[in-house]
Amino acid sequence: MVEVIKNISEWLKIQKEEIKSDKSIGFVPTMGALHQGHKSLIEKCRKENDIVVVSIFVNPTQFNDSNDFKNYPTTYEHDIKMLEECNVDYLIFPNFDSMYPDGYHYKVIEDDFSKKLCGATRPGHFDGVLTVVMKLINIVKPARAYFGEKDFQQYKLIDGMCKAFFMDVEIIPCETVREQSGLAMSSRNKLLSEDEIKIAPIFYKLLKSDLDLNKIKIKLEEASFKVDYLDETDGRRFGAVFLGNVRLIDNVKK
Ligand code: PAF
Repeated sequence: MVEVIKNISEWLKIQKEEIKSDKSIGFVPTMGALHQGHKSLIEKCRKENDIVVVSIFVNPTQFNDSNDFKNYPTTYEHDIKMLEECNVDYLIFPNFDSMYPDGYHYKVIEDDFSKKLCGATRPGHFDGVLTVVMKLINIVKPARAYFGEKDFQQYKLIDGMCKAFFMDVEIIPCETVREQSGLAMSSRNKLLSEDEIKIAPIFYKLLKSDLDLNKIKIKLEEASFKVDYLDETDGRRFGAVFLGNVRLIDNVKK
């Protein structure tokens, strides 16, 4: 049975008194609405650690658009079932006040890569991500933490933060899990209409094609996507698009 912990001090007590110091803790932070992509992170974490901790916290400080925050899917019952199936030991499920006793006056800010790609059109997004991830890592104190490569920029920034602040944790990237159609798994896919679900895989197909970015943009627009950005850097091609109100991101190695 997964033990659900809403109170951070309760977790700190368990961690101090019940988890032996020779047991490794593996950590998968999430915002819930769990899917097969999360499952693969949790399974890898289960294989590589003695104790598996997952967190579910829809972190308001990383949403630059309040409607996006309000509409973020929540599937708590389903999530708990998946955590049970994956043999997770602890779920950390805190509320805003317990995560932000400072009212978000203290922030972690990266001032270079976080301003590019997704950061260019989502001001403050990565400040919120880095801040909450540092808080969660400080709370959970894992040996390893797992992040999906669908959010490659997020993974790189978190890895950089942990190195910059000498945080004693290994950040493990995990390959993007895709639907059979090629569409990268994402909690936001749940917000797509039936028609949009059919169109969405075109994004990945074009991203990994040999076409140049201009041609890809034209083809995406023809297929009714609104392109937020397309870019190539460090041997990867990155993109973010809107289908209706839903923002999808993806990236491929070039
Ligand atoms: O990738 C996510 O789900 C979130 O950005 C994370 C890492 C859990 C921080 O809120």
